[in-house]
Amino acid sequence: MKRNKPQSVYIPKLDAEHGTIRQAAEDLHQALAAGGEKGDVRAVVHVLMQQINAHFASEERMMRSSAYPSYDWHKRQHDTMRKRMQECEGRADVGDHARVSELLEFFEAWLGDHTGLHDRMMSAYLRNFEREQRAS
Ligand SMILES: [Fe+2]
Ligand SMILES: [Fe+2]
Repeated sequence: MKRNKPQSVYIPKLDAEHGTIRQAAEDLHQALAAGGEKGDVRAVVHVLMQQINAHFASEERMMRSSAYPSYDWHKRQHDTMRKRMQECEGRADVGDHARVSELLEFFEAWLGDHTGLHDRMMSAYLRNFEREQRAS
């Protein structure tokens, strides 16, 4: 199955984090496809959640330290996804793999859109902010 290709946001740290998240999502597809021992799926969902949380936290830290004007809007999108992925973790705990799979598909589609638009807007601002800091 062909899934969204990672879109660069031209900030290596964030590109690397997006790549790690996509890899964990891919691992979850595989765990689900393998018929998933309940424990495997749970463990992989847990890793995915940790990576998502760490990544959202780094973007939010960067936006705050550069006074990004659309911070609230961007963070709200992260919050919505945090909630969905918490549901995903809960479903994995009870072995509801059909719902885990649905939420995974939803997450991947969201990540492609969010990265391609909102993260890119943010990173353009961040790069400009850095340049101005260096020049002053
Ligand atoms: Fe991101
Ligand atoms: Fe983001």
